[in-house]
Amino acid sequence: MRTSDHYDVICLGFPIWYYGAPNVINTFCKDYDWSEKKLYLFATSGGSGIGKTAEKLMPYVTGAKIINAEVLQNADDLKNWVSKIER
Ligand SMILES: Cc1cc2nc3c(=O)[nH]c(=O)nc-3n(C[C@H](O)[C@H](O)[C@H](O)COP(=O)(O)O)c2cc1C
Repeated sequence: MRTSDHYDVICLGFPIWYYGAPNVINTFCKDYDWSEKKLYLFATSGGSGIGKTAEKLMPYVTGAKIINAEVLQNADDLKNWVSKIER
């Protein structure tokens, strides 16, 4: 199991594929220890909303607290999303 001791807050971004994160993101996440991590998710999309993306990712980020998950369509969305991150 990999750890990321240097970080308490982690931002993870990906394109939405079939109403969730691409499988490669699940594969990447499942090898890490997410205990006590605050996780902020952001996604780009072809049109659908964020949907159940966070719920679908949960089995692969066991122990993490997913604080926020949003689709970012433009620079204003990005600024707004960044402003919500608790450091
Ligand atoms: C295999 C595949 C599945 C996709 N499924 C969705 C989807 O369910 N909902 C959606 O809004 N966009 C979907 N898209 C569009 C991607 O989210 C979109 O291409 C991406 O956000 C834009 O990033 P890119 O420029 O890296 O492709 C899909 C794209 C691919 C390639």
